[in-house]
Amino acid sequence: MKIAFYGCGNMVQALFPLGLKKFDFKVFAFTPTGVRASEFVAPFNGSVILEDQINEGNFDVVVLGFKPQQLNEFKVSHFHKKTLIISLLAGTTIEKIQKRFNCLNVIRLMPNTSSKLGEGVTLVAQSESVNDEQSLFWKSFFSTVGTVFNCESEHQLDQLTPVTGSGPAYLFEWARIFFNYVKELGLNDKDAKDLVSKLFLGSSKMLSEDSDDFETLRNKVTSKKGVTYEALEEFKKSNLEQLTKNALDRAYERVLELGEES
Ligand SMILES: NC(=O)c1ccc[n+]([C@@H]2O[C@H](COP(=O)([O-])OP(=O)(O)OC[C@H]3O[C@@H](n4cnc5c(N)ncnc54)[C@H](OP(=O)(O)O)[C@@H]3O)[C@@H](O)[C@H]2O)c1
Repeated sequence: MKIAFYGCGNMVQALFPLGLKKFDFKVFAFTPTGVRASEFVAPFNGSVILEDQINEGNFDVVVLGFKPQQLNEFKVSHFHKKTLIISLLAGTTIEKIQKRFNCLNVIRLMPNTSSKLGEGVTLVAQSESVNDEQSLFWKSFFSTVGTVFNCESEHQLDQLTPVTGSGPAYLFEWARIFFNYVKELGLNDKDAKDLVSKLFLGSSKMLSEDSDDFETLRNKVTSKKGVTYEALEEFKKSNLEQLTKNALDRAYERVLELGEES
């Protein structure tokens, strides 16, 4: 099978290499500068292509791995009718992609940066024309880098994007705040990073492996009028829950805006 990548940035690099090693593909890639395209294809003895070669390729699969706003700059007008398009573009609907490239078969993905370590969550939605065999194959392909979640609809993929697509950034931001707090207590960078990352690692393992629900896990660390209780009361006073919901709602609005802008 011939697969062509348009854009080989962070997400393409996180999601595809393991699957490409496991399954048999001829790999092609285009990026405007060519630098990341040539780095990306090297391990697969693949080829860098130019933008004006894209229409001639008759690729079985094309991956749209650039930013949604860049769709307008993209010069290709159509792909071969049987081509399967795999799109990473946040917010850009299946219908828009079908019309833009005159192709019916589209799988939309919402990746997550932890796929780099094989611990990602990939959201998937697809056009009705994608058959069961294709669907199963790509599910197993993306399972090489973590969990695949088949969305009930495209709408659900958009709604979940602020949670799993953007979610790592919120946790990284919280880690950054903890790191700075600990540094102010006098720890050096290495110890501060170790301490905070182990805190997140251990807690994440408990979230996924312990049979208790999240609230029970929290309560087990929180004795009435104890140390943790006072910190959680401060969160409550600042309405952390509402603040988080507001942030997720705003991120969802942005998903919809990106769909309009692309
Ligand atoms: N970053 C995340 O955590 C994240 C999370 C969820 C979803 N996403 C989605 O994943 C997609 C890719 O994001 P990313 O973070 O991987 O981006 P990125 O690291 O910035 O990479 C973008 C890639 O697109 C290439 N490119 C730029 N203009 C292009 C054009 N006109 N035609 C073809 N390729 C072009 C760039 O080329 P050069 O290499 O030459 O610069 C680069 O290889 C986005 O649609 C985003 O919505 C990202």
